[in-house]
Amino acid sequence: MKITFLGHATLQIEVSGKTVIVDPFISGNELAKDIDVYSLKADYILITHAHQDHILDVETIAKNTRAKLVSNYEIVMHYGAKDIEGHPMNHGGSWDFDFGKVTYTNAIHTSSFPDGSYGGNPGGFIIESNEGNIYIAGDTALTMDMKLIPMQCKIDLAILPIGDNFTMGVDDAVIAADFIECNRILGYHFDTFGYIKIDHEEAKEKFKNAGKELNLLEIGGSLTI
Ligand code: NI
Ligand code: MN
Repeated sequence: MKITFLGHATLQIEVSGKTVIVDPFISGNELAKDIDVYSLKADYILITHAHQDHILDVETIAKNTRAKLVSNYEIVMHYGAKDIEGHPMNHGGSWDFDFGKVTYTNAIHTSSFPDGSYGGNPGGFIIESNEGNIYIAGDTALTMDMKLIPMQCKIDLAILPIGDNFTMGVDDAVIAADFIECNRILGYHFDTFGYIKIDHEEAKEKFKNAGKELNLLEIGGSLTI
């Protein structure tokens, strides 16, 4: 499984011969200006919640690629009304897709669309595949619910928000990694806006001191599990 960071909370995951885009926010991200939204391939688009910085390019990519959306019921219905096909889920539920098993997990956050309409409750995703298992936390606070995850499956890579202010910050993300029982972390949701700028070296040091590895990818950079 290859995971490419496209800036902010946007990921491109290549798994089982399929391409999965998560939370596309590219055209509005000055730091990601070298990425062409129209050149992205996608078989699926996973959406954690309805905030602008997670959905901005959903319609563009979905219409360009015919990718299927996977999100909570309310978000899938919202895009269904725009003739974009999706698979609705809700918290705690799993479904076997052709690239792997997806579970929609709890997140402590909010989930309105930019116009204020209801975006269901926010979540994250576990993807279990023949190529390994990952947890994409979405925008969330540190939550005790994360302790349930290692009871359900062994996570090879946890993708956690670390920017603070709107989500947990680095210190809580270190605790989250303990809860998830995963020592390999990819940080996201940092640096994009003034509120979430972080010190990269200090963040890595904090994870290292806890016996964990924090990966911070350049935009367009990848790692493989
Ligand atoms: Ni959000
Ligand atoms: Mn966000």
